[in-house]
Amino acid sequence: MPTLVIGPGAVGLYVATALLRAGEAVVLWARPRSAAALQQRGLQVRFPAHTVTFGPQQVRVVTSPGEALRAGPYRAAFLTVKTYHLPALLPALQQAAPAWPVLVDLLNGVTSTATLQAALGPQAVLPGTVTTPVQRLAPGVVVVEKPRGVGLAQHPQTPALQALLQRGGVTVRVYANPAALKWTKLLTNLLGSATAALLDWPPARIYAHGGLFALEMAQLREALAVMRALDLPVVALPGVPSRALAWGVTHLPRALLQPILRYKVGRGRGEKMPSLHQDLHRGDGQTEIDALQGAVAATARRLGLSAPTNALLARLVREVAAGQIPAERFRHRPQALLAAWQEAHG
Ligand SMILES: NC(=O)c1ccc[n+]([C@@H]2O[C@H](COP(=O)([O-])OP(=O)(O)OC[C@H]3O[C@@H](n4cnc5c(N)ncnc54)[C@H](OP(=O)(O)O)[C@@H]3O)[C@@H](O)[C@H]2O)c1
Repeated sequence: MPTLVIGPGAVGLYVATALLRAGEAVVLWARPRSAAALQQRGLQVRFPAHTVTFGPQQVRVVTSPGEALRAGPYRAAFLTVKTYHLPALLPALQQAAPAWPVLVDLLNGVTSTATLQAALGPQAVLPGTVTTPVQRLAPGVVVVEKPRGVGLAQHPQTPALQALLQRGGVTVRVYANPAALKWTKLLTNLLGSATAALLDWPPARIYAHGGLFALEMAQLREALAVMRALDLPVVALPGVPSRALAWGVTHLPRALLQPILRYKVGRGRGEKMPSLHQDLHRGDGQTEIDALQGAVAATARRLGLSAPTNALLARLVREVAAGQIPAERFRHRPQALLAAWQEAHG
């Protein structure tokens, strides 16, 4: 029985490669441009020490829910689109859902699982996360920067999927608390993401700047306060020192914390700029901010907490993305961003 990967971009091809290496048949559900490239050239995944290629005859590509249904039934489906692709894709997912027993939600942020569960049913969705940074160079060609792994929530299908991905060379950890998994991943996605997008600076430079470091810590502490209010523990993610991060942000003095995080945040990303930076600078108005800082701010509001730093970053990224304020207002201008932050705090 094949496995379906919906959205064969960076993460989708990373997952597809693991499945193919495990000896599974894989069907890729792509949009027309990527579908054409995959059908002509197959896929190429560059790992730090080697490159894996699969020719066009080794994967089947479909482009519509009808085709996806006909190529099934599947062992499972992995969803690897961006959060902003989800609303348009949802009706097609509902149409094709009879073809798979479970949809693995690998999207970043904390909004996708609820959206998918509302559309498909609570047991039909398996929340997960990817901690390996992957970059797409062209349709069908991706670079795996630092292999780390995948987290999957407990579900009747999880043991089989865990075994499969591990056979394909991916470290998989299983989590009893899906919300803790998604929120912990969100915590790591906040690091140098919105600030890098707004300033057009790499995260290591942001963590070397005194004022920006304070802003970064404020957004993390707000997110940790929301997690505490939701009674969600910070969990250990595959290959990511997420618990040490949360402990350090809460307990370490700045003089110790800043050099550690500056080193870790710079080194942790490889060559890849944060996705929010790439989203904002693509210029099509679409970013994942609503599922990240925006979700922290919205959840804080719902809980009667205050998260002004996340609210500000979310608003500014939204406004720059929508062209309501010029990108030049913050580009390479940390003082402008810090002034807006001070103003947001009254
Ligand atoms: N990249 C990373 O390092 C990384 C790591 C962990 C988690 N994540 C998260 O994983 C998710 C995916 O990120 P990514 O970096 O893999 O994004 P990406 O490279 O942009 O891939 C998204 C893919 O979804 C496809 N897609 C969009 N709408 C579709 C539709 N209606 N039907 C079929 N395919 C569709 C896109 O098609 P086109 O090819 O036509 O654009 C693209 O191939 C995001 O939530 C991201 O935050 C990413």
